Amino acid sequence: MIDTKILHATEENLEICKKEIISGGMVAFPTETVYGLAANAFDGQAVEKIFRAKGRPMDNPLIVHVHSDYDISTLVDDDMPYTKALREAFLPGALTMIYKSKGAVCREVSCGLDTVAIRVPCHEIAQKFLKYVNLPLAAPSANRSKHISPVTAEQVFEDMNGRIKYVLQGGKCSGGIESTVLDVTGEIPMILRSGLITKEMIRSVVGKCEDYVMKEGEQVRSPGMKYKHYSPDCKTFLFSAEEAQEAQKLYCELDKKGEKVYFLCDSNVGDTLIGRKLDLGRTGEEAACELYDKLHVAERVASVLIGVLPKEREGVWAGVINRMSRACRG
Ligand code: TXA
Ligand code: MG
Repeated sequence: MIDTKILHATEENLEICKKEIISGGMVAFPTETVYGLAANAFDGQAVEKIFRAKGRPMDNPLIVHVHSDYDISTLVDDDMPYTKALREAFLPGALTMIYKSKGAVCREVSCGLDTVAIRVPCHEIAQKFLKYVNLPLAAPSANRSKHISPVTAEQVFEDMNGRIKYVLQGGKCSGGIESTVLDVTGEIPMILRSGLITKEMIRSVVGKCEDYVMKEGEQVRSPGMKYKHYSPDCKTFLFSAEEAQEAQKLYCELDKKGEKVYFLCDSNVGDTLIGRKLDLGRTGEEAACELYDKLHVAERVASVLIGVLPKEREGVWAGVINRMSRACRG
């Protein structure tokens, strides 16, 4: 069994991690959203290891991470006039853009699609690591498939211990939910996964942006969307803020039966509920930052988790509601 080590990003340790990547291995590293599990995007066998280590379905493509000086025109075609403005406004940062592939990145990354997702993270250690290695790194979130995305090096360790050699230490991620995934292959930029860079923010720069809604019979555009995700290891229920009274009733019934029941909700809804709460704070940004950490707490302390969705649905809340719904559905 592999002995997983958490390493501080010293020169010496960056060298160790670089060697691991170049020799076809994997390294987990921090980003401003969640921790990623990286391998060389040019090396098909290395990328396959990521799928095996995570138990990830082979039809769910990975995001390619590059440093801020990397010339992405060697990897992708960029035909749309609005993308430059988006890069200038939001990169490096939590916006992943999907372009047409030039075929330079190995097939395994995109699972046979003719597109590639590119992300330039702004976390200082992510940038340092990417510059040090100077290769595009394919990296999904550093958790086992269907599990909660990690926002600390210790959470990566708990989930991936024995499966990878190294985790670079970068403290707690400040963003907390995964990057916004934006398809920029068409006239209108389409959000495939909501995140910290919101539809409103993108519209304010380029005047247009829509949420992608799958039409009946259409092939899934972002395969990640069809999978159940982010589930904590306990029973879960989901209510809207309008159904808060029903959520309260269920809490009381289950509590009487001796279950360790917790609400997962923002403070605005939480003020109207009585019982144990995992509180997500008041703003969308606060909730994004707290969400995965609180889901990890739920796994330790709760036997039943009752999610109550916030009233507000705009801005960063869209991403938070998307993740909460997927974690608590069932
Ligand atoms: O914040 C993040 O994006 C984190 C950190 C580590 O950078 N990464 C992350 O990766 O969340 P992952 O693998 O958990 O999610 C990647 C998402 C999936 O929903 C996948 O389906 C979508 O991006 N995706 C990747 N390449 C795609 C492509 N070519 N076309 C459509 N969707 C794609
Ligand atoms: Mg993930």
